[in-house]
Amino acid sequence: MNKLQKIVDKAYETEQLSREEIILLLKDDSINEYLYAKAHQKKQELLCNEIHLRALIEISNICLQNCLYCGLRRDNSLQERYKLSKDEILFLASTAKQYGYKTIVLQGGESNTYPINDLCEVIQKIKKDDIAITLSIGEKTYEEYKLLKEAGADRFLLRIETTDCTLYEQMDPGMSHENRKRCLRDLKALGYETGSGSLVGLPGQTIESIADDILFFKEIDADMLGIGPFIAHQDTPLKDVPNGNLFLSLKVMAIIRLLMPDINIPATTAMEALHPNGRMLALTSGANVLMPNFTDEIHRKMYEIYPGKAQVAENNSLHIEQINKKIKEYGLVVSKTAGYRWNRS
Ligand code: 5AD
Ligand code: SF4
Repeated sequence: MNKLQKIVDKAYETEQLSREEIILLLKDDSINEYLYAKAHQKKQELLCNEIHLRALIEISNICLQNCLYCGLRRDNSLQERYKLSKDEILFLASTAKQYGYKTIVLQGGESNTYPINDLCEVIQKIKKDDIAITLSIGEKTYEEYKLLKEAGADRFLLRIETTDCTLYEQMDPGMSHENRKRCLRDLKALGYETGSGSLVGLPGQTIESIADDILFFKEIDADMLGIGPFIAHQDTPLKDVPNGNLFLSLKVMAIIRLLMPDINIPATTAMEALHPNGRMLALTSGANVLMPNFTDEIHRKMYEIYPGKAQVAENNSLHIEQINKKIKEYGLVVSKTAGYRWNRS
């Protein structure tokens, strides 16, 4: 057995790797298939063959931030903006419930376009039907996160994007890496299941810094981690930067599965935007969550963080029976539970 296989086996058995070991794995593609297979094996052993579904509703594409990579950045004046009304959100949520979904994700750009009270009202109404709610609406104050939690939100997604502070502040002008970490701490302290994640392939990002991202996720004990390749958007300052590498993104995800076996890891849409079978590759390399898009067609097309995103959504069924049929070919099945983080204690 070669040296890299031994490193993968060590991760599989001990859930620990040094920074140097992670770097070796990330730098050498001869290990990819073995790593993907071991990550899948780990996921199957601990979390069985179950996949959790989350219904994604993109509530608004209005954003006050200006991240260089994102099509929703405030300086992209070519992007028409929208905000769903409370009733529109509740309608989409009730459709998802009727379909049998057990988690609803409310995602939006970072803005104050919805007063906190409105968000709380929507959360309370959705929660009447005993459903898990995930929010993904960016940086807020501790008090705001607290109000949203008290209204019934269960989980929150906030990607760190990169743990390289200098790169982060270059890519996200005006934002503070320190404040982002504060948000993640606050969310954990408030009892949210806390999700984070990163982009793979940002310009100037090194393999070493990706290794640091993985170690950071373990250190903060994230409950969910979304990893996606960077995809260049034509109306952003990064339009000429090459796309991130799908196979490197899958490796990052697979290493995370080995180091954090019980967490929830989505097969991200960005993976599928780069490869027609990207999400199935992810679901057989350590991922265990799918997030079908429930946003109506008109608004979904306007939520263009990167090109190809709406097209992926269109090609994916919302019907649980059809999803079940597709994943059955891979020996997988849709879970009947709400899919909180698996508890080993
Ligand atoms: N390519 C891939 N992912 C992107 N995101 C933003 N812009 C892009 C892009 N160009 C991701 C960020 C953000 C999430 C909502 O979308 O990681 O946290
Ligand atoms: Fe706004 Fe998020 Fe896009 Fe940054 S990544 S511009 S915060 S929607």
